[in-house]
Amino acid sequence: MSSLTNKRILLGVTGGIAAYKSADLVRRLKERGADVRVVMTEAAREFMTPLTFQALSGNPVHTDLLDPAAEAAMGHIELARWADRILVAPASANFMARLAEGRGDDLLTTLCLATRSPLSLAPAMNQGMWQNEATQANLLRLQERGVSVFGPGDGSQACGEVGPGRMLEPAMLAEALAAQFESGRLSGRKVVITAGPTREAIDPVRYLSNHSSGKMGYALAEAAAEAGAQVTLISGPTHLPRPDRVQRVDVTSAREMHEASLSHAAQCDLFIAAAAVADYHPAEYLEQKLKKGDSDQWQLTLVKNPDIVAAVAALAGGPTTIGFAAESENLLEFARAKLERKGLRGIIANDISREGLGFNSDDNAVILIDRERALELGPMSKTQLARALIHELSDYLPASASDS
Ligand code: C5P
Repeated sequence: MSSLTNKRILLGVTGGIAAYKSADLVRRLKERGADVRVVMTEAAREFMTPLTFQALSGNPVHTDLLDPAAEAAMGHIELARWADRILVAPASANFMARLAEGRGDDLLTTLCLATRSPLSLAPAMNQGMWQNEATQANLLRLQERGVSVFGPGDGSQACGEVGPGRMLEPAMLAEALAAQFESGRLSGRKVVITAGPTREAIDPVRYLSNHSSGKMGYALAEAAAEAGAQVTLISGPTHLPRPDRVQRVDVTSAREMHEASLSHAAQCDLFIAAAAVADYHPAEYLEQKLKKGDSDQWQLTLVKNPDIVAAVAALAGGPTTIGFAAESENLLEFARAKLERKGLRGIIANDISREGLGFNSDDNAVILIDRERALELGPMSKTQLARALIHELSDYLPASASDS
């Protein structure tokens, strides 16, 4: 079963008897880990109530374009940006016609116009309406614009007729949607990613560390797995669950991360250092907890940690190596200097002074820098950004034997 963990799915429900199946679809999408928000057209509300979808999705249902209260909570543009994918199920003949025309005359059509995320439809209608030339012409127009279409299935219909026009079953739709996230760009490749903070022990109860949540590294691991790679995530202490299909190696200190990285990096194609590695560790580890004592001061002597990403980049015949640069000033200049100093193929530069982005937040904006260019990506969710980065980084890999 393909996963939808952390995926934000906007489910559009239009007016048709198949709308009752969309209630089950919400459950199927959530079962696979998706965060689901439902938008209903006016006609859909003749068949089902928003309350049903609210209860099943766990989120408020969106219905109106010009409702000030709804816009204040999550406006239509925000909703369009929020979605990783939009699925309209059922998609009625009328909705397909409005979409093909490029109309923005209700919330759902406006969202479909505003979004930059992929759009999928699961048509459901009477077989005569489906086979009508006008519907088929609209279908073609939509497909030419990159809209993907699931179904419809063939069989007996609610109206008593038999033919094409049945909405696909919810389980099939959930699987088809999940499969769309899998690009295959990294199939057959091995990827190692470091993530999270490290902890440098002072004594049995104290340590030096930082505020890294590990979210960016985990999102990259998930996106790489989604792209078909065999992924090893070398993780410092975080509260995050192991992403599906990812092998996690737990470490605590920078020196442990260094050792684990070197033992895995030699056999991989792509190494991404997303960890916020502590630069120093205490020179001496105290076997017993240090007592407060009488002194007002405590001096710690710190020793530099090994630079993990630089060590991996220096491996003869080693992987394509990518680092991160979190900077609060002179972003491009400092990141380029780091790229050279550490001998990296590319560096992902992060301006940590931007409010609501980066460290410990769900959204991020970065610049991917290599010797030829600086590519701006975001702001977007870390999940979307990770996918965009994996797409770009996969282009750095030399063609493998299986590609030729
Ligand atoms: O030197 P600085 O810490 O700013 O560099 C950040 C990049 O280097 C990140 O990719 C981080 O994961 C990596 N790094 C490392 N080992 C260290 C310090 C940083 O791999 N000891």
